[in-house]
Amino acid sequence: MLKITYLSHSGFILDDGANQVVIDPFLSGNPKAQIDYTQIQAKYVVATHAHNDHFGDTLEIIRQNNGTVITVNEFANYLNSIGCNSHAMGIGGAHMFPFGRVKLTIAHHGSSWTNGEYMGNPVGAVITMGGKTIYHAGDTGLFLDMKLIGERDKIDAFLTPIGDNFTMDIDDAVKAAEFVNAEYVIPMHYNTYPLLNQNTDDFAEKIRAIGKKPIVLDVGETFILK
Ligand code: NI
Ligand code: MN
Repeated sequence: MLKITYLSHSGFILDDGANQVVIDPFLSGNPKAQIDYTQIQAKYVVATHAHNDHFGDTLEIIRQNNGTVITVNEFANYLNSIGCNSHAMGIGGAHMFPFGRVKLTIAHHGSSWTNGEYMGNPVGAVITMGGKTIYHAGDTGLFLDMKLIGERDKIDAFLTPIGDNFTMDIDDAVKAAEFVNAEYVIPMHYNTYPLLNQNTDDFAEKIRAIGKKPIVLDVGETFILK
């Protein structure tokens, strides 16, 4: 069992009943966020890249929970240097953590700190916990290797950006969902700002048309993978 709670934008809390992991917790300054970082109890943050609409409140969450960031090597090294405990990984590598397994994937995007400093490659993450596997694509354009990601691990839920402009749009996300071949497809990175506005009815219809199940979560809503 794995509970997936939507924080808005690309942020999610994963909870298997024993452990909590948060992905891309962008809360402060996020017009759609409904909670603040003090309510996040997760000990692990998976950070897909350094952009503030993903890294968000990670520093505060790690400090208050005595936690660990899981991210790509260059970014992890930087975070460790500023006192933020981080576990460095490389694309294609996996590691078993106390809560489960994390494997980093490619993502076609950028990754820079607020001062413009380069923070290594952006990533997606395949996360297995509670006996279920999710693939959070991070910020990315469509790429054919998503087929391989879906072949190497049986993905139960695919978390995909649909907002266009910075990432895939709905039609590319539908093609990505075909490649990944997960039963459930959860949209993210949309409607946070007018630039990212998308029609989730259109998304849901197109996902159903390829035989997959769309799960459009309201902010704060939880979907349970059983
Ligand atoms: Ni980004
Ligand atoms: Mn983004």
